[in-house]
Amino acid sequence: MTADSAAPSGPGPDGPRHVAIIMDGNGRWAKAKGLPRALGHREGVQALKRTIQAAPDFGIRCLTVFGFSTENWSRPAEEVSDLMGLVRTYVASDLARLEKAGVRLRILGRREGLPADIAAIIDKAEAQTAHNDKFMLQVAFNYGGRADLIDAARRHAERILAGETTEPLNEENFAAGLATAGSPPLDLIIRTSGEQRLSNFLLWEAAYAELVFQDILWPDYGPKALGEAVAAFAQRERRYGGREPAPARVSA
Ligand code: FPP
Repeated sequence: MTADSAAPSGPGPDGPRHVAIIMDGNGRWAKAKGLPRALGHREGVQALKRTIQAAPDFGIRCLTVFGFSTENWSRPAEEVSDLMGLVRTYVASDLARLEKAGVRLRILGRREGLPADIAAIIDKAEAQTAHNDKFMLQVAFNYGGRADLIDAARRHAERILAGETTEPLNEENFAAGLATAGSPPLDLIIRTSGEQRLSNFLLWEAAYAELVFQDILWPDYGPKALGEAVAAFAQRERRYGGREPAPARVSA
């Protein structure tokens, strides 16, 4: 078995509370095995399940993953359809279990443009888990960082025009209009497959996050690789623009 399923070593005191992952490399994983890309994505869902299950053992309280970007619509129709199908299957098979485990599921991204049944599935999943507070799972789907910044600015302007506020735009009220509003500050962004860029993911939230790039392809990801990323994070000194090193995670 190539998939990473080793037991985690346990949480550290300076562990990241909010981790985001760019799950990259499904296509290359499938290609290397002579398999269709769809199977790479399907194995990607298994890796996601392993990672969600392991995350609390490292002290992680919130996990945000990039499932489908606004740019992914440019992929061949068959692949887009495969990815939509995975959401249907994943929610159908895992929602009850996630709800029981105390997971609050949130989908980040524009609802417009999504197939109507997917939008309905997402709304139902969010409503059904809204009361949970043990763990937050945010799936960015039809999400783009720039689009989210535009939406947040627009929301504030609309509130002013509607007479709901007279407050000038500031970091606090701007962040309250982002898709991630209400989630903990982002501590760590992981990207798999060796690529080293943000690809329009969490542009605002990334401001003081640590970045860890891992060579592993996403379908092979799991507790061992997550533990390595968390260990790399714990070695970092976060200064937030100041001179004094801070522990990797400061209490919010
Ligand atoms: C990147 O691999 C991965 C994606 C574009 C999709 C990620 C999605 C999943 C892991 C499944 C998501 C499941 C849910 C429930 C949202 P790539 O295709 O870009 O790989 P490549 O760079 O090797 O071609």
